[in-house]
Amino acid sequence: MQRVPAVRPLLRRRQDHPVSGKCLFAKLFGNGSNRKPCQQRNSATSQPRLYALTLAVGKGRTYDDDVVFAAAWLHDPGVFTGHSPEDPVSLAQWDHVGYAIDVAPGILRQAGFPEHKIEAVIEAIRTHQPADRPMSLEGAILRDADILEQLGAIGILRTVCNAGRDTRFPAFTAAVQYLQRILMELPGQIEFETTRTLARPKIEALESFLKAVEAEAKPALY
Ligand SMILES: [Fe+2]
Repeated sequence: MQRVPAVRPLLRRRQDHPVSGKCLFAKLFGNGSNRKPCQQRNSATSQPRLYALTLAVGKGRTYDDDVVFAAAWLHDPGVFTGHSPEDPVSLAQWDHVGYAIDVAPGILRQAGFPEHKIEAVIEAIRTHQPADRPMSLEGAILRDADILEQLGAIGILRTVCNAGRDTRFPAFTAAVQYLQRILMELPGQIEFETTRTLARPKIEALESFLKAVEAEAKPALY
């Protein structure tokens, strides 16, 4: 794909992407001091993993990697403290996707991202959740990668590490129920065959973890 010269400082070589992505993210979160997870979601460390997953999902397809890269880094700023409501009632109704759609264009413009690609980034962000129906290839790649990120050992880590500090998982039981729902609902929502193949070992890992929890803890998980 032809790179636009103005964007090279931001999106240089592929191996520079995580660094460039951090710069992009720093426009929202400053020097990182406030990059702690909010009550709702996981930390900023998921962006490089998510972007790596988009490369695996998109392998062999012709798509705009700049768009997917920017969307992967900016799809979820509204889940962090300082960017989401503190009050639990407002937080439960918080539209984190709407927030991302509002703030992402300004961040991208400030970073020198090509103006003509911003709409495509926003569109990919808009449809990145499993229940969405992406209208673009870039959106479908991001959504499939986001599903993969929630499965397997990483999906387990994302959930269990937040038990007790994420309002959705006050204790182990809620965390396990969440993982059971992930296992039941997400694999069927995958769009691409390549993603289904990538998901297989992750699904097996999650199944085996949940079986072990049931065998060891029932009925006293807490
Ligand atoms: Fe999200």
